[in-house]
Amino acid sequence: MADRYLRLTGTAPGRFVTRRLGLPQPAALRRWSERTPELPGPVLRLTAGDAVPDGTGTYGAVVLDAAGVADPEGLGGVHAALHPLARSLAPCGRIVVLGARPQDGGLAHAAAQQALEGFVRSLGKEIGRGCTVQLVRLAPGAAADSTLDFLLSPRSAYVSGQVIEVGPAPEVPAGGARTALVTGAARGIGAAVAETLARDGARVVCLDVPQAGDALAEVAARLGGSALPLDITAPDAGERIAAALPDGLDVLVHNAGITRDRKLANMAADRWSSVIDVNLGSVLRTTGHLLKTGALNEHARIVGTASIAGIAGNAGQTNYAASKAGIIGWVRALAADAEVRGRGITANAVAPGFIETRMTAAVPLVIREAGRRMNSLGQGGLPIDVAETVAWLSAATSGGLNGQVVRVCGQSLLGA
Ligand code: NAI
Repeated sequence: MADRYLRLTGTAPGRFVTRRLGLPQPAALRRWSERTPELPGPVLRLTAGDAVPDGTGTYGAVVLDAAGVADPEGLGGVHAALHPLARSLAPCGRIVVLGARPQDGGLAHAAAQQALEGFVRSLGKEIGRGCTVQLVRLAPGAAADSTLDFLLSPRSAYVSGQVIEVGPAPEVPAGGARTALVTGAARGIGAAVAETLARDGARVVCLDVPQAGDALAEVAARLGGSALPLDITAPDAGERIAAALPDGLDVLVHNAGITRDRKLANMAADRWSSVIDVNLGSVLRTTGHLLKTGALNEHARIVGTASIAGIAGNAGQTNYAASKAGIIGWVRALAADAEVRGRGITANAVAPGFIETRMTAAVPLVIREAGRRMNSLGQGGLPIDVAETVAWLSAATSGGLNGQVVRVCGQSLLGA
């Protein structure tokens, strides 16, 4: 699982040799830890069209409010604000552009606001040094607080080139510890999600197949949570989850997933159906049961796990990509459902790119190396990067995020 190339470029001789050979120079990302809870410098806030302050200090982040840019000429204010700063951002710094939804104005407004997407995605690809760039579109009446907290912190280290829409958030009454269920929590991304939600104060219930019982029990015990050994595809999985949660559920993270890769011409029906059932069918069944029986509390957060394969497609993964694209369709439909919305419940998805886990360690070397490097940050992500994104989407304060699909892929070139 180790990225030896990243380690090599982290040493002076390694950097010298790889630079001379013209090879990529991935930056060591600054991730959240108690020692590094903040960005590497102050946050500069600007408004497109306003006078740009003299001098260029070194900033940890720049937040540019471009929501008022209403025509192509107004885009000049975006250039004027960020052109002098693009080089002086600290390594692993952040640029966040705040925009409006293109549909919330006239034709020129729509053009200008959509233009911001091309701008942000391009700047993300060229800025380098571990910096990230995002566009946050605010619907009328929305506040981006929880989203900015996440994006302007080391917790979003591997999220770049994203367009995130924030709507108005219903008031959530303050409560005690929330209960979170994470499927596939015995290892990999699921274990990191459970750990991160526990770090943020949730009581976690860790679910995984009975065969993973020892690892599952170990994760749950470490986090002071409980273990629920259960195959998520069991016909009574919804009932058994509800029975294990007498106080209901506040956060539901569908992370369990499998691959059974083959080209379609060589794919037997059981490879197809097992992947569709674990990754998609069981997600719909169990969530449907929890919603119907009221086991999902008001203001619950549902997070599905998609994949960039579900966005870009991938040879040998027709089953997997179909299941992951299905997750995207499902969270969008759930987010639009009047009854679900009426209870303040949100549904979003993460779409990981290349994440260093046992799943990707099994990929052949050449494909693995390509997967790692073919993104703006030049490296694979870590389970914690997905976990931090899930934690943000499932926070009580993230009620304005609904129906979003956030890629955790270092701005992968696939499906860009
Ligand atoms: P992993 O294979 O390390 O862990 C998956 C976990 O799900 C395992 O503990 C497994 O026992 C559990 N699981 C499988 N079938 C289950 C079932 N029927 N019932 C209950 N639990 C079950 O995988 P990894 O890499 O941690 O991936 C987690 C999720 O992220 C998956 O949905 C995967 O498709 C998705 N993903 C991962 C990427 C990566 O690069 N690692 C990229 C894109 C998406």
